[in-house]
Amino acid sequence: MVRLRFLLPLFALLLCVPSSAHAADKPNEQALYQDGPQGRYLLDGDWLFRKDDADQGINQRWMRTTSTAGWNTVKVPNVWNLGDASNESMAGGIGWYRKDFELPSADSALAWAFRFESVNYRTRVWLNGKPIGENTGAYIPFEIQAAGLKRKGTNRLVVRVDSKRLDRDFPPARTNADGVPSGGWWNYSGIQREVYLKKLDTVDFQRVQVRPEIDCGTCDATVRMNINLRNVTNRGQRVSITGKFGDRKVNLGTKSLGPKGIAAFSDSIRISNPKLWSPQTPNLYDVSFTVRVDGKKVAGYDLHSGVRSIKVSQGRLFLNGAPLNVRGMGLHEESKAAGFAIDNARREELVNLTREAGGTVLRTHYPFHPYTHELADRLGLLIWEEIPVYSVSTAVLKEPSVRRLAVHELERMIGANENHASVMLWSIGNELSSQPGPVQVAYIDSAVKFAKEMDPTRPVGLAVAAYPSSLCQATQYKSLDVIGFNNYFGWYPGPSGQIFDRTKLSGYLDAVRACYPDKALMVTEFGAEANRDGPIEEKGTWAFQQDWINYQMNVMNTKPWLSGVVYWALNEFWVRPGWEGGNPRPAAPIHQKGLVTYDGVKKPAFFDIQRWFKATNQFPPAG
Ligand code: GCU
Repeated sequence: MVRLRFLLPLFALLLCVPSSAHAADKPNEQALYQDGPQGRYLLDGDWLFRKDDADQGINQRWMRTTSTAGWNTVKVPNVWNLGDASNESMAGGIGWYRKDFELPSADSALAWAFRFESVNYRTRVWLNGKPIGENTGAYIPFEIQAAGLKRKGTNRLVVRVDSKRLDRDFPPARTNADGVPSGGWWNYSGIQREVYLKKLDTVDFQRVQVRPEIDCGTCDATVRMNINLRNVTNRGQRVSITGKFGDRKVNLGTKSLGPKGIAAFSDSIRISNPKLWSPQTPNLYDVSFTVRVDGKKVAGYDLHSGVRSIKVSQGRLFLNGAPLNVRGMGLHEESKAAGFAIDNARREELVNLTREAGGTVLRTHYPFHPYTHELADRLGLLIWEEIPVYSVSTAVLKEPSVRRLAVHELERMIGANENHASVMLWSIGNELSSQPGPVQVAYIDSAVKFAKEMDPTRPVGLAVAAYPSSLCQATQYKSLDVIGFNNYFGWYPGPSGQIFDRTKLSGYLDAVRACYPDKALMVTEFGAEANRDGPIEEKGTWAFQQDWINYQMNVMNTKPWLSGVVYWALNEFWVRPGWEGGNPRPAAPIHQKGLVTYDGVKKPAFFDIQRWFKATNQFPPAG
């Protein structure tokens, strides 16, 4: 008897019966954000993770392994290099994630897909030992059809993440003269945002576009709705789509979809006296679509739509016909506790801090999480929405394939976020060479053209370094609607000391206005590091930061033609090994221009910004 008791666990081990640490979950229908297709099942709970420093996982067939030896239990979202400030951590590496699950339904008529909200950076995915797909790039969701699922019993999803930043990635890898990996924010490695199992009954939504258009504040609105639907079955189907926009019924018609075929459905309605969306009155219409086959509902999609117009005219941004003079925050979706694998509570905290400071606009260097977009829609914040085409050198941008990839990022960002009223513009990048030559012009022109074709309702912008030596690029920036200036006058010296003197800011801004009379101009960044008490004239002190901000705001407020001013950044974040950011007493790798410390404490300058932002009429009346 005694012997048998000993042998049983051994048998179990030999048969590779999963231990309780990775027992198969049956995921629940739930999503961390509302807008999107119905039938999303969060793959939360326990996952297994294993680091693969020697890159041996593929040879050793970790996609097939049943053993749990060497694997640790983690929660996803997860970044494996949290708190690791080494060069190796910044450079990135390889890690494997594994999740056992059972299907929520054994119905053989259903197909399933995996939806990944953001994985950094190269992802390869296996299901039950077989490869099912891959993706390159972070911050933009991707989906992979789940081929080879077991209807009953345990399925194993295996995800290999390679986070090594390369020269042609967005953002690109950079290495400084000492061989230290560089870059504009920490290379948090892993499955940074959540993963879903997505139920596909007969059809899959390829693109859902709800586009309200309105020509003036008192005009009727037209709402155009376009849906591309894919038949996921091998049989022809007759499919109809109906829906609601607020309390209005819509009918996008009935079409035949061939086996695995795609069809475009559309409808448009006119709304008189629409309730407009704006930061002061963030009115949203509930929108839902229902897909039926033979009268039976097979799929549904929900979203929230805001009727508003955003345009550039006479050299500034107008929302619903009234000029914008917005104030707000740049930030990273990061926390000390979770790196980039933050939860919705942290997203709410960042948005609430922005609002507390009087901000009405958000910016970061990559598309925000969908929940942040929904918060912005609901609470009335505008978003400067940017692809991570960040400081890409001209030598790299020169390659047509890199430019095509950048435009492809733009396509995916617009597809993912075009229905959010909060998105005020599409930004095609940040701080490319400040001396734009033919290469950058080729990129700008193609990206702007593409964005306009895909979404003619939004302006297109680019953030540039504010340097007098490259002040007027009217020809090069011709196709842009909006230019954002990253202003560090009086903080960094800049090339040849050209921005050393803060008193040069005012004249620079006037000269910029004169150069671009028809473009909307914003200050997309300004900021000074602060991490200590000390004299006002010493960079890096609370007092210096306050004084610098007060000086800057004073000057920028005398330029009523600016469409907006964004502080960089709301929160402290990790940048890269050796970061000093202009502070003589830095605390690498933390970026300390934030108004709130890494530990969540408001610096004195938070209240200066708050005073300025709250005193500004950010939505002056038209005319
Ligand atoms: C840049 C950049 C930011 C960076 C900042 C800084 O212009 O866009 O990502 O953090 O400057 O130097 O602090």
